[in-house]
Amino acid sequence: MANYEVHEHDVIVVGAGGAGLRAAIEVSAQGLSVGLVCKSLLGKAHTVMAEGGVAAALANVDPLDGWETHFQDTMNGGKLLNNWRMAQLHAQEAPDRVRELERWGAVFDRTKEGQILQRAFGGHKWKRLCHVGDRTGLEMIRTLQDQGVHQGITVYMECTISKLLKDGDKISGAFGYFREDGRYVLFKAKAIVLATGGVGKIYSVTSNSWEYTSDGQGLAYDAGADLIDMEFVQFHPTGMIWPPGVRGLLVTEGVRGEGGILRNSKGERFMWKYLPESTKNGFAADETEAKEWVEAAIAGKRTEARRPPELSTRDNVARAIYIENKEGRGSPHGGVFLDISYQDPERVKKKLPSMYHQFKELADVDITAGPMEVGPTCHYIMGGIRVDADTAHTRVPGLFAAGECAGGMHGANRLGGNSLSDLIVFGKRAGAGACDYAKGLGGGQPTINEKDIETAIEELEAPFNREGKNPYDVAKKMNDIMDAHVGIFREEKEMEEGIAKLHELKNDIAAVAIKGSKAFNPGWHLCRDLKNMMIAAEAIARSAHARQESRGAHSRLDFTETDKGKWNEVNSSCSKEGDGMKLEHTPLPVMPADLKKLFEEKKKESPNA
Ligand code: FUM
Repeated sequence: MANYEVHEHDVIVVGAGGAGLRAAIEVSAQGLSVGLVCKSLLGKAHTVMAEGGVAAALANVDPLDGWETHFQDTMNGGKLLNNWRMAQLHAQEAPDRVRELERWGAVFDRTKEGQILQRAFGGHKWKRLCHVGDRTGLEMIRTLQDQGVHQGITVYMECTISKLLKDGDKISGAFGYFREDGRYVLFKAKAIVLATGGVGKIYSVTSNSWEYTSDGQGLAYDAGADLIDMEFVQFHPTGMIWPPGVRGLLVTEGVRGEGGILRNSKGERFMWKYLPESTKNGFAADETEAKEWVEAAIAGKRTEARRPPELSTRDNVARAIYIENKEGRGSPHGGVFLDISYQDPERVKKKLPSMYHQFKELADVDITAGPMEVGPTCHYIMGGIRVDADTAHTRVPGLFAAGECAGGMHGANRLGGNSLSDLIVFGKRAGAGACDYAKGLGGGQPTINEKDIETAIEELEAPFNREGKNPYDVAKKMNDIMDAHVGIFREEKEMEEGIAKLHELKNDIAAVAIKGSKAFNPGWHLCRDLKNMMIAAEAIARSAHARQESRGAHSRLDFTETDKGKWNEVNSSCSKEGDGMKLEHTPLPVMPADLKKLFEEKKKESPNA
């Protein structure tokens, strides 16, 4: 058997974005030994690409804000499919986690009074997004990284975990390899926290970085955890669609939060047509009122004017753009126009520095000089590994999950800014949960089964030992299937065909082959990634096919209404059964009466959607 190095910790955290770093900081603060394993270099996780802000009801700009309203907005945005307890903890704890970041050195933008500045975002009733220009994720990672490194966390960089190991039903460690030279590594641990992010690379147009290949979802599923609500994939309405070099890149919702206007090819400001009847009251009635809101925002003044229609929720804006195109009013490359160039260029550069520099440098697009061409891009998955709300424990003893790879928090659709807050709230909780569990196990490490390591190595080496399919061709096929059959709009027959094609593609994945050595060999890494990507793709397609309604980010052309009966009360759940995937529908946790009452009362006054 090939050699491998061995490291031993109480807790291993896989993933060094916001959730992983916050979990590792918690474990280290509790005095346990923690190893933080990341696929890229420390400081380069996908969280750095989060732009517009972190949602927390600090009420610095809108004094009426509070956790209850944040909770209610989050549940409304998620179309009530959220795990209510996660949404409650998130709304209650996000302010403390943001203040903690500030104490640790994060340099947020400021109000005139010197408090953390907050901006408007879709679906949030009040100005709630604490931000650092449009580089909030980057500042968050810088801060957490400094804190973690100073606490002495051990970091293993450019390392991919390929298998979780168990002692009976309990977690005992993880096996993987270093990407630079392919040397193998065994991590012995009492508990593991997965914080590996999302699945965007299964679609062809995505705002997600190369790391987002469903690693945590695949590892957890293989180890016996279940994946819930995988049909809910968020397409951010404003990805850059032209020029091709920046296709898919995120144009932060902060552009609309700062007054950016969406128009179709006829120059019409179309979003008013798409506001659901139940939410219209929350938005400006016309151009005049929308303009008043923007002018007040620019002047930093309070106003009674309601927010512009561009600040509807993402699912709604993405669908509107799709329909504008279908009806022939789209931009030349299949999107619409987003314009902030009517504002003072200096203000735009100050508020949205990354948007300005990134698109100027990468694509020679000057956002202060004219509109951008934007359209939907795969951005986030609401579904993920099922966890206990308070502890982040999965159903596998010793396995925890936090951040985008965990499901439940965002229901059927996530509000912008709720992802960064999710990372720090549940990252800390997952770290604490893992500590409690590891302490409960007592002294020694669980036993590692040598046979499992042999199997892990055989699986990793198999692509070198056969002639077969090119992994890049297989990944492209998967993208094509997901784009065509399980995209923004879905329909029974399309999905059935997609599921059949995915089924066939499994044979290709089992036959991927690669040449060369294990050093710096991205094709070899992709061979491994494809297995996890297929788990996510199948779970999305099958869950979407089964859910016969439209809700949040899941839009069915053949079931256009949101069901008030069965589908209102169940989570989809995919788990491993033999060699196949079992799909079940399990009851949604029931919100306690006191919270429900608060929610119902609040609903009357906050018609967000
Ligand atoms: O539009 C954005 O800046 C994205 C934020 C988010 O997804 O939370």
